[in-house]
Amino acid sequence: MKIESLKIENFKALKEVSLEVVPEYAVFVGANGTGKSTLFDVFGFLRDCLIGNVRQALQARGSFKEVVSRGCLDEDILIELKFRMPIANVERLVTYKLCIGLLKGQPMVKREVLSYKRGRYGSPFHFLDFAHGKGYAISNEEDFNKPDEDLTREDQKLDAGDILAIKGLGQFERFKAANAFRQLIENWHVSDFHIHAARGDKSAGYAEHLSVTGDNLPLVAHFLFEQHREVFDRILETMKRRVPGISDIQAKSTEDGRLVLRYQDGAFKDPFIDRYVSDGTIKMFAYLVLLYDPQPHPLLCVEEPENQLYPQLMLELAEEFGNYTDHGGQVFVSTHSPDFLNGVKLGKIFWLRKEDGFTTIHRAQDKELLCDLVKEGDLPGALLNQEFFEAVTL
Ligand SMILES: Nc1ncnc2c1ncn2[C@@H]1O[C@H](COP(=O)(O)OP(=O)(O)O)[C@@H](O)[C@H]1O
Ligand SMILES: [Mg+2]
Repeated sequence: MKIESLKIENFKALKEVSLEVVPEYAVFVGANGTGKSTLFDVFGFLRDCLIGNVRQALQARGSFKEVVSRGCLDEDILIELKFRMPIANVERLVTYKLCIGLLKGQPMVKREVLSYKRGRYGSPFHFLDFAHGKGYAISNEEDFNKPDEDLTREDQKLDAGDILAIKGLGQFERFKAANAFRQLIENWHVSDFHIHAARGDKSAGYAEHLSVTGDNLPLVAHFLFEQHREVFDRILETMKRRVPGISDIQAKSTEDGRLVLRYQDGAFKDPFIDRYVSDGTIKMFAYLVLLYDPQPHPLLCVEEPENQLYPQLMLELAEEFGNYTDHGGQVFVSTHSPDFLNGVKLGKIFWLRKEDGFTTIHRAQDKELLCDLVKEGDLPGALLNQEFFEAVTL
């Protein structure tokens, strides 16, 4: 799947934001408080709505009152995504629209629509359309050659008005679009990596993908070593190149049935357990485990990957994040690092500004001056340093 465009209204500082073109790899820059974390949280919010319900997702962020843009309590939060995904084996441009507001003081899904064009012409067809917990979904979408009146509309009532229809119906095979979209969102990875969570020995178990906090790092390393040795070896080779001294990394079982990562420094006989290894070493290893995942996430969001890492490594890391899309994934990164930005093409860079309290998002490529400077040999990171990004929006 690939998100093609994005429209958000009344979600915290994102009062009215739309991205008409979203590349597979997008990098967001902007001063503190301009809304980078908020933008990524839109994806985390959607995922939380799906895993629990809308009320819980709002509660985790305070409440509706905290989440809706300041001064807009009477308005609805709108999230609209256009994305490409296969439905019944045909690639479609699907629109998902979610509108959340208060009704008698309670958060409610006021409207939820999943639509796409069935043919080359005509307006998008609503395959799922719900409001206040009631609506319909089409159950024979694969018959898209049939005339509209031959499609089967199933009226449905959800258990409550704060549950997403894609959750309620997405579990049923017969609702193809809802099912496919639900599975996609469930596989989104919005990173909330913490070194202290990744560090330390862990109960032995099985994990194929790095968790959002990174707390299963030894388990995933063990899985890669056992099941995807070539991937593990690539990660190890990269670590050896980037972290002076590292000669081996092993996920070792302890006697009490736990798993611990051990880092071997070529200068010493005994390896170090991860508790005594530098933050940057663990972080680099975790990123490589995330980025070289044999089954990439459809969407990966990572904030400020530069923290704790040596600036000289940024260029390569920026390219590595970009390479994640080679296997079908989409990647959003935020950064303050000019070194990281130097590894990113201008067309992938967006910058955020705060205007009258709310976020605006600009695409670097739309600014002639920035394009000209890059054509003349300037690197994007140097332009960020010289505040050119800011200057062209003033
Ligand atoms: N409901 C809201 N309405 C308007 N602005 C908000 C709301 N909630 C938080 N904010 C503001 O949004 C800003 C964006 O913060 P954040 O996304 O963390 O920025 P960044 O990650 O770019 O540093 C903060 O300055 C905060 O004050
Ligand atoms: Mg932030």
